[in-house]
Amino acid sequence: MRVALLVLAVLLCGSASRAQAPVAMSDIFSANGVLSATLTAAEGKIHVGALERDGATYNGDYVGPVLHLHPGDLMRIRLINHLSQPTNLHFHGIRTSPLGNGDNAHLVVQPGQAFDYEVRISPAQPEGLFWYHAHVHGISEHQIMGGLSGTIVVEPSTRLPIAQRLFVLKDMVFDDDSGNREIDDVLHGIVQSVNGQPTVNEAMRSGETQLWRFSNQSANRALHIALDAHRFRIVAEDGASTIAERSTDVLDIQPAARVDVLVDAGAAGHYALRAKGVMTGTGAALLPDRIIGALDVAGDPQPPSAALPSTPPPPDLRTARIDAKREIVFSQTVESKQAPQRFFINGKVFDAARIDTRVPLGTIEEWTIRNDSDDLHVFHIHQIGFQVVEIDGKPVPFTGYIDTVRVPERGQVKLRMAFTDPRILGRFVYHCHVLKHEDAGMMANIEVFDPAPSALSTRLNRLYQHVWWWWHGVPWSLCGLADA
Ligand code: C2O
Ligand code: CU
Repeated sequence: MRVALLVLAVLLCGSASRAQAPVAMSDIFSANGVLSATLTAAEGKIHVGALERDGATYNGDYVGPVLHLHPGDLMRIRLINHLSQPTNLHFHGIRTSPLGNGDNAHLVVQPGQAFDYEVRISPAQPEGLFWYHAHVHGISEHQIMGGLSGTIVVEPSTRLPIAQRLFVLKDMVFDDDSGNREIDDVLHGIVQSVNGQPTVNEAMRSGETQLWRFSNQSANRALHIALDAHRFRIVAEDGASTIAERSTDVLDIQPAARVDVLVDAGAAGHYALRAKGVMTGTGAALLPDRIIGALDVAGDPQPPSAALPSTPPPPDLRTARIDAKREIVFSQTVESKQAPQRFFINGKVFDAARIDTRVPLGTIEEWTIRNDSDDLHVFHIHQIGFQVVEIDGKPVPFTGYIDTVRVPERGQVKLRMAFTDPRILGRFVYHCHVLKHEDAGMMANIEVFDPAPSALSTRLNRLYQHVWWWWHGVPWSLCGLADA
């Protein structure tokens, strides 16, 4: 019987299974402009190959359900919290409202509670790769490393002429019984999984071009990805198409970043996909190379495929009128046995009730993000994308808007951001996306406000916000009454 089933399975899947999407991913699609999903967060065992550890997932799926939608859609997500601790959701890279039951990272869903998110995807949302994850300050590293993240694909309006593959990269640390993770760091006990597996197998025909989409959903790790004897053609970063294609041997994917590349299969053969050794900061954490997959190329060369549809670029902000300049400084205390290490933005640890930056809607700003440490820090801001104009004083060509950027050790990056979309009015956050840093303080609040509202509409809006917060049982201290 078993043999018969096996034979049947082989017959049914046959050649398709070789090139097919990984098994563990579940897909949820929007229909008629609405994506409806229930995500149940619950603790449980996580398996990556033969390894097992305690973790937490959405719907029992370590990779996380993949949400497919279109610009202009409404996303309705019921989050059910079966964890033993609070949790919530953030929709990373989605240009949407931070208010109410939208992409509101200040919201917290208590154990045993359910919450209905409604996130309106802007018609101007870039079509590309995004992700969602838990975002409770203090425990975000723990929850994301445990498995509480998943992928969002904003689908292009026209069907791509080539095959695509998704690579969801996650890290986990195996704690010993006392929760001492230093031991693991020394032993390089970092497991990188691809689509929930230790390795993945891909297949292509010689000369074929595929779109490979990488999403670094690890809590803390920058990942350097290489494919033996092949180069990558970068066509999108953080979900937005790059203006000019760029070719590289090694993809440098910061925590939270996404990169879409074209892969042109070379001669027939077997090639390793590698996570290369990564050196961070002063070189304290050098990880060895790890093979995370293989590409088998076979068959006769194929004729080149049609070009990808190109999307119109956003405005180049290098020549824009700048309304304000700000400096954002990342710093930290040294690690010691006496006190827990703390991480600062402009000398302060995060305070949910404090507004650090107030920006009038309709303005374009230039932010200089400085890294006053020898550690890896990665700047991310919610609700909008930004244009990098300078790294360490050197001008950077315009490639598009991204939402996550590495700030070089003892260096700086200059960004320009257009706070012009009224959808982003309200309070949201910016922070380092190395989540152990964010949890230890490296996050700040920004409020985008309407500079010329009628007095009545401001009052009504504020009243609405307060009633909303009160109705959802959020303490006054978090309501922003202090700055009203
Ligand atoms: Cu990936 Cu505050 O976000
Ligand atoms: Cu950091």
